[in-house]
Amino acid sequence: MGKRFLTILAVAVLMCSVALLGLSGAAEQKVPDDITIQAKLWKNHTKSPVKLSHKKHSEEYGAKCADCHHVIENGKNVWKEGDKVQKCMECHNEPTIKGEKKLPKDKQALNLKLAFHNNCQGCHKKLKKKDKVKYKDIPTTCIKCHPKKKK
Ligand code: HEC
Ligand code: HEC
Ligand code: HEC
Ligand code: HEC
Repeated sequence: MGKRFLTILAVAVLMCSVALLGLSGAAEQKVPDDITIQAKLWKNHTKSPVKLSHKKHSEEYGAKCADCHHVIENGKNVWKEGDKVQKCMECHNEPTIKGEKKLPKDKQALNLKLAFHNNCQGCHKKLKKKDKVKYKDIPTTCIKCHPKKKK
């Protein structure tokens, strides 16, 4: 084999692997049916993990992806379906779980416990207020989301 052929072969192999890498990188993120939320930001959880019927929330309960997922730019949510989803704690990395409502406002906005509670309970409470009968069983109390003391 000539040197020239080997060079062409090497270049071809390189180009194929770059293309493959590109494809795998662009592969869609799996959208889970059910999620057990137990964020790793907290080493010592004081409450049991929280079950989220992820698929049901969007397919049966009328929640939109963007009700829960966002990337905020200039105060607006620019995230759209198909974009990469980051874990909440990648941005909400302020870990306080006791007295978090006494933190300064800017820290509260990045507090992970408040992020979950304001999002989950926020929507549940709002719906219950709108229609007490229809949403009589929607979880708004601790025990409904954190079923046992721990694990
Ligand atoms: C009721 C709130 C809610 C709705 C509605 C919702 N999600 Fe999620 N989703 C979550 C939460 C919470 C997580 C877990 C995040 C974490 O672990 O920090 C998650 C995780 C994900 C993940 C996995 C991310 C990973 O770490 O692997 C993907 C992908 C995703 N959601 C896409 C979607 C899409 C697409 C929709 C709309 C069809 C949607 N979600 C609707 C709350 C929601
Ligand atoms: C890419 C970064 C990023 C990710 C990922 C992210 N957030 Fe946020 N979130 C923000 C920013 C920035 C704000 C605006 C904070 C402010 O008002 O200054 C915000 C605001 C919020 C608010 C309103 C603030 C409040 O307490 O009133 C809630 C609730 C919230 N996020 C919950 C979540 C939840 C739940 C997840 C995961 C499903 C999540 N966020 C994922 C960056 C992110
Ligand atoms: C945009 C509104 C909205 C948001 C945000 C939301 N939910 Fe819900 N959730 C609902 C609705 C609607 C129901 C159905 C209530 C019913 O029919 O009784 C529900 C039901 C539930 C239930 C009981 C039924 C089941 O499927 O298990 C749990 C548990 C629950 N949600 C957990 C969560 C958690 C955890 C989060 C935050 C990660 C969350 N929800 C965020 C609207 C929301
Ligand atoms: C609608 C659902 C919902 C309700 C209601 C709710 N929580 Fe949570 N809470 C969550 C989610 C989701 C997380 C994040 C879970 C995780 O990552 O371990 C969380 C996290 C926490 C954490 C920090 C994590 C830990 O294990 O220490 C504490 C403490 C907590 N909740 C206490 C409470 C208390 C007290 C109440 C009642 C006043 C309550 N929660 C009601 C959904 C809920």
